[in-house]
Amino acid sequence: MLGLLLGAAACGNSWAQKAEGLADTPPMGWNSWNKFACDIDERLIRETADAMVKQGLKDAGFQYVNIDDCWHGQRDADGNIQPDPKRFPSGIKALADYVHGKGLKLGIYSDAGATTCGGHPGSRGHEYQDALTYARWGIDYVKYDWCDTPGLNAEAAYTTMRDAIAKAGRPMVFSVCEWGMSKPWDWGGQVAHMWRTTPDIYNCFDCEYSPGFSVGLGVLRILDKQANLRKFAGPGRWNDMDMLEVGNGMSEDEDRAHLSIWAMMASPLILGNDLRSMTESTRRILTNPGVIAVNQDKLGVQALRILADGPLEVYAKPLEGGQWALMFLNRSNQALDLRHDWKAHLMNDDLSKRSVDFKKTVYRWSDLWSKKTGDTSGKLEARLAPHSVLMLRLTGPAKP
Ligand code: GLA
Repeated sequence: MLGLLLGAAACGNSWAQKAEGLADTPPMGWNSWNKFACDIDERLIRETADAMVKQGLKDAGFQYVNIDDCWHGQRDADGNIQPDPKRFPSGIKALADYVHGKGLKLGIYSDAGATTCGGHPGSRGHEYQDALTYARWGIDYVKYDWCDTPGLNAEAAYTTMRDAIAKAGRPMVFSVCEWGMSKPWDWGGQVAHMWRTTPDIYNCFDCEYSPGFSVGLGVLRILDKQANLRKFAGPGRWNDMDMLEVGNGMSEDEDRAHLSIWAMMASPLILGNDLRSMTESTRRILTNPGVIAVNQDKLGVQALRILADGPLEVYAKPLEGGQWALMFLNRSNQALDLRHDWKAHLMNDDLSKRSVDFKKTVYRWSDLWSKKTGDTSGKLEARLAPHSVLMLRLTGPAKP
């Protein structure tokens, strides 16, 4: 027995695991990439942390402030990664202290290859050293990208970094970013807390953009790629639909729909706009408590599509306590008149083994955007603007 134990210990990290309890609900935060790309520095990160608190985003549940690509300087003579001395002159530890002082958490970015997508030093061959550096700095979240990885096996490479983080001894959310290419949902639950399911988001509702080799997908294109992935998600393991573009130029209806879709699909909610200068309308959208509560529901079940009728789609998400969230999505750029006969549709989810027959049970509903209320005894009638959603929480059952 002792021999067996020693043998296992000699294998080093055979017991290494991702940290448990860090992502029981989808992580919520902000990331620098969508709005700022490589134009980042410590002032932006500090001001973003300030804004997260001041604008009520922290109170709404957002907590991670994540530095994406391009924070790096060179490795020192011992191979330790350094931040860019011009952009981050005070160092990352000082930044982490600042962010922690606000009651928030700091995230950082690296890559499984020798160089990041922006051409900076990646972690290949330095995984344990980098994880240790992040732990010393007080990092709470690592996004790990997939550029410059020819010949690498994704599951193995991400497992190495998972083990390195475990060995470093500081709990950090581990976020896989390999764009869904090697089906990370198949192995991601063991390795990470979340995994990107698609190429990068592109700031539009219904389009895609493919200059050269890279592809960017609009909101609906990303939604459509989640169809068969819901069984892989749950507390501690999430399908990541990429950072949000709310506040970056889509219409208000599109922004509301975008956030609602991410909430329904239990995707991490990582903001991608400039928190320091957002409009009041964007702020209100991002802090909608009802929509965030759907995303953060403890059951952790990703929504399923229960109806597709031309441009109208209906998604249902089972929630704690027998409740449901429902989202009516108008995919088209024309307005749509919704007349939903509750009794004509049995709502059934094989995955969570929940179903509702509205012929037998009446639920009360509240509209999470307009705050209207009603119940399922009559028809649901509404005009859905182009690229908009109606999102309801169903509570009940009410007395018939
Ligand atoms: C990749 C990732 C993006 C971002 C950039 C940074 O494209 O998918 O989210 O991190 O790299 O270079």
